[in-house]
Amino acid sequence: MNLIIRTNYWLVLLLFFNGCESIPFLQDSFPSKPQANLTVPQIEGASEKRDRYEFTGKEIIISSDHPLASQAGMEVWKQGGNVVDVFAAASFAISVLRPHSTGLFGGGFAVVFLPAKGKWAYDFRERSPKKGVASFYLKEDGSVILEKTLKGPYSAGVPGTVQGILQIQKQHGKLPLSDILAPAIRYARNGFSVYGDLAAAIVKTWPQMNPAMQKVFGIDNRAIREGELLIQEDLAKTLERIIENAEKEFSDGETIQLVSNYYSEFQEFITTEDFKNYQVKVSEPLVSSVWGHTILTMPPPSSGVHLVTMMHLYSEMQNRNTFPKGDVGEMIRITEAMRVAYRDRAEIGGDPLFTNIPVSKLLSQGYAKEETNEIERKVVSGSWPTPKEEVKKPESYNTTHISILDREGNAVSTTQSVNGIFGAGHMVPGTGLVLNNTMDDFAVAPGVPNLYGLVGSKANAIEPGKTPLSSMSPSILLDASGKTKMVIGAPGGSQIPTSIFNTLYRYLIQKRDLYESVSYPRIHHQFMPDRIFLDPEIKDSYPQSELPFYQVQYSRHRAKVFAVTREGDRLIGVSDPKGEGVPLGF
Ligand code: DON
Repeated sequence: MNLIIRTNYWLVLLLFFNGCESIPFLQDSFPSKPQANLTVPQIEGASEKRDRYEFTGKEIIISSDHPLASQAGMEVWKQGGNVVDVFAAASFAISVLRPHSTGLFGGGFAVVFLPAKGKWAYDFRERSPKKGVASFYLKEDGSVILEKTLKGPYSAGVPGTVQGILQIQKQHGKLPLSDILAPAIRYARNGFSVYGDLAAAIVKTWPQMNPAMQKVFGIDNRAIREGELLIQEDLAKTLERIIENAEKEFSDGETIQLVSNYYSEFQEFITTEDFKNYQVKVSEPLVSSVWGHTILTMPPPSSGVHLVTMMHLYSEMQNRNTFPKGDVGEMIRITEAMRVAYRDRAEIGGDPLFTNIPVSKLLSQGYAKEETNEIERKVVSGSWPTPKEEVKKPESYNTTHISILDREGNAVSTTQSVNGIFGAGHMVPGTGLVLNNTMDDFAVAPGVPNLYGLVGSKANAIEPGKTPLSSMSPSILLDASGKTKMVIGAPGGSQIPTSIFNTLYRYLIQKRDLYESVSYPRIHHQFMPDRIFLDPEIKDSYPQSELPFYQVQYSRHRAKVFAVTREGDRLIGVSDPKGEGVPLGF
């Protein structure tokens, strides 16, 4: 009976998302473990959602932010693909299914760990085009031209998503591109039902969309609504050309010609030469010992290094007995660790090819000790600076993360984005491609906050060919014996590193299960504004009166965590219950 109810639940869910899709293997893949009641403060409704957002398997699990993206991954796995094929198929699929979050005119990072082969960090993020210089975004008096980095053609960087996925798949995948791209093409051509989050994004962006984009995301000259079918025929054709021409399609194929035609009306801001010059950057992941595990994370311009600093600082503070006991002491340790990490990010974060980032120093025990000494002085003397009232900019929901882990410990952790909701709000006619607005991830001028309220220094100034600083921090954890323990990452702008920190803290330090750890109310501090953001559910545990030296704001943490962990011979995947995705597997 239970199985039948659950079968229907999944069928209804998938039919809702895509009336035309058949789901042959889904019945082998139901969550097998009934879950105990939760005994922790939860985001509203989270415990009832566990059935949908948690999945247990033995062979492989993928966790993503759309059921059909997870399904695309499992489809190629069933065809004999490996985790990298799963990554590639799910990445192309999610570009179709969450066009407000990511897409082929976006960029991203991936950390790949194949125990028998090696480990890699791939940076396929957007780069500033040759014409992208700081002065282009400033008035003569040096003030910022409003929204030029945020909306329209000049807010886009040269995209890397296609080149990144193709290069990784070519190096480590097994299947032909026709298999990898088949699900994405189906979703684009046959369409899928528009879900709430996407419908809201379409309505919000509608007024600024160029005509080509309104044509795709509209019906009868109005924004397409929840439950209606979204068909992206031009995007299906672009994907088909990728099967035919592989990476050449995005260096000098028809797609690039169409991009060039579009930019002929916009000062040729991005040129065919920019596409020809685009290179995916491949390096070793950053490796560090944290909380009894080894973390493999993305090097700068990702924020992986700051995530690790945060974890080291927390550990160092835990070793000292000068901090207050109980919840308040814990809040101080977490907040101060975050404050230092985001201060570093603001002051020195940027593209390591353009600026020196002392990664080894930031990861060292000596640094954690030094910074903890400073924090300790503040705590012991009670001389906290008075927090200032600062207004935080509203944030948007976008970007996406996919975590994949198989029985052998092969793992991919990837975060991909067009930055803000629907990026620049423009589509390149004839391609189905939505422009990113990732130029806003640069610091347009020192101290001027970006979309996520983050400030930066000259290290992250706009320069031709440069990669903007990013909060995206895809990571993989190994246990003490070197076996893959967890794959984790998140979208959520400035809250990405802290969402990963919060989840690892609940899971590794507090020993909660993965679902609880992902859905547990979160703590966030990002240096500026000087304020702790707490999910409203923990208001009673941390009233402002007990934290007089902080300014506390109770508001929803918006990052969504997607993680897979290994516990014995079980793999457990969780998609954040705030999102639309599900984990799937076998
Ligand atoms: O790379 C970055 O830091 C941003 N482009 C990420 C944006 C993001 O995660 C938005 N999330 N909701």
